[in-house]
Amino acid sequence: MTENLNRSLVLVSRPEGLVGDDNFEVRSGPVPTPGPGEVLIRVTWLSFDPTQRGWLLPGGTYKAPLELGEVMQAYAVGQVVESNNSKFKPGVHVQGMLSWQDWHVSDGTDLTIVPEGVEPKAMLGVYGTTGLTAYFGLTDVGQPVAGETVVVSGAAGATGSVAGQIAKILGCQTIGVAGGSEKCSWLVERAGFDAAIDYKSQRVGSRLDELAPGGVDVFFDNVGGETLNSVLKRIRRHARIVLCGSISTGYVPGHLPPGPSNYFNLCLRSSRMQGFLLGDYRERFEEGRRTMRDWVEAGRIVYEEDIQEGLENAPKTLRRLFEGANLGKQLLKVADPPLAG
Ligand SMILES: NC(=O)c1ccc[n+]([C@@H]2O[C@H](COP(=O)([O-])OP(=O)(O)OC[C@H]3O[C@@H](n4cnc5c(N)ncnc54)[C@H](OP(=O)(O)O)[C@@H]3O)[C@@H](O)[C@H]2O)c1
Repeated sequence: MTENLNRSLVLVSRPEGLVGDDNFEVRSGPVPTPGPGEVLIRVTWLSFDPTQRGWLLPGGTYKAPLELGEVMQAYAVGQVVESNNSKFKPGVHVQGMLSWQDWHVSDGTDLTIVPEGVEPKAMLGVYGTTGLTAYFGLTDVGQPVAGETVVVSGAAGATGSVAGQIAKILGCQTIGVAGGSEKCSWLVERAGFDAAIDYKSQRVGSRLDELAPGGVDVFFDNVGGETLNSVLKRIRRHARIVLCGSISTGYVPGHLPPGPSNYFNLCLRSSRMQGFLLGDYRERFEEGRRTMRDWVEAGRIVYEEDIQEGLENAPKTLRRLFEGANLGKQLLKVADPPLAG
């Protein structure tokens, strides 16, 4: 990459299943010029989020679909290099909805300045989408109470690992479900979960019977499918199922499985299952970031980052989430910040 060139990854065909490299084309052009009120951002780090697969669906999801010929959008951080907007001085690091390209022009809407003392890429993980999703989803939707049993699926991922650690902070017995022995060891030895179930080599239901014979009070579900059904079979009275994600579906609507057959336990055990979107909590993001920062700085929450490099590797990196290749937050480094300070 040369500093006076802008590479963009443009959607040229819609994926059928997993995102393919050939669904995107790398196009090069001049570095864009910011107009009145706009800023020019050097993109430094890209966040990868399973929801991006949904943005590629022709009908869209909770937001309009990316159209063919458009540059892929992404949560990202970057450094403001040129500014026609008094809120953003050159040199500041910003986080927001940017794109798969070297340079991004923004009018400043929805950009957040990275606070002093915070590493910019942490604004994509523990202080970004995934950390805040864990915080609001668990505390506001799951409402765990000390002494309860909390189960988290996708537990070694960016969202799940934080959700489980918050449950521990709140005094709950916490069980994580993740794929592979390495991830399960990390959950117990490093993240402080009470136990972990490797769904790839163990039966989730029978392990839950051993680990939580009294049943499950809160299930923070990132995965859906069979795992959700196994937990539904074992919920206690007044359980709360937090429907955060359903990555086992691949987020491809044509391949959605039938609903969980054990759903009627929600009725029999006076329980609830509630979905949420992080955007529902926009007004409370500052509170979430402040709380997460206190916990991280006190060493009560640890986090991992899986770092890939090179803008051209963005489609491959998005696939890693669906292949379970990441431990912790999936990031990609695009560039070092060009301005000092
Ligand atoms: N509701 C919201 O507003 C909101 C916001 C952010 C994220 N989310 C959801 O939160 C979940 C986690 O997102 P994240 O960004 O933190 O990603 P992540 O958990 O860091 O990465 C995805 C993980 O999903 C697991 N996975 C992939 N395919 C699977 C399958 N077929 N069965 C079981 N597990 C599978 C893999 O872990 P294993 O190796 O353990 O299989 C993979 O590492 C996703 O469902 C996402 O859509 C929701």
